[in-house]
Amino acid sequence: MMPFYPVAKITDINPGERKIVTIKTIEIGLFNVEGKFYAIHNYCPHMGAPICSGFINRTVNSNSPGNYIYGEKLVIRCPWHRWEFDLESGECLIDTYKRIKTFELSIQDEWIYCKL
Ligand code: FES
Repeated sequence: MMPFYPVAKITDINPGERKIVTIKTIEIGLFNVEGKFYAIHNYCPHMGAPICSGFINRTVNSNSPGNYIYGEKLVIRCPWHRWEFDLESGECLIDTYKRIKTFELSIQDEWIYCKL
C-alpha cells in the first residue's frame, strides 16, 4: 500500500494559488482551484516541461467569432507548446494517449496529504 505524505497546510495554498512540493525525487504541483485541491506531476508528457507553471482555465468552445462558451473541465496549459490537460484526470485534450500523472489527496486536520 502506497503511503500518504503530508505536503502542506490548507492555509499554505490560498484559492487560485499553487505550490510545488517534492516527495522523494518527484516534483508535484498542488493547486487550489474553485474550492478543490488537485495534485499533478510537474512534468509534461510531451517534452518534459515544468507544466505546473502553466495557465489554468476551463475548456473554451466557440460557435462564432467573439462568442466564447466555457466548458466543464478545468485544464492546465503547458507553458512550452500549449497542450492542454484535464487537471482532474491528467488526460491530454488533443492526444488521449498522453496524460499527466495525477495524485490522490486526503485532507485531515488542516493538512493536505498526497499519496504516491
Ligand atoms: S512540453 Fe508540454 S506541450 Fe510540449
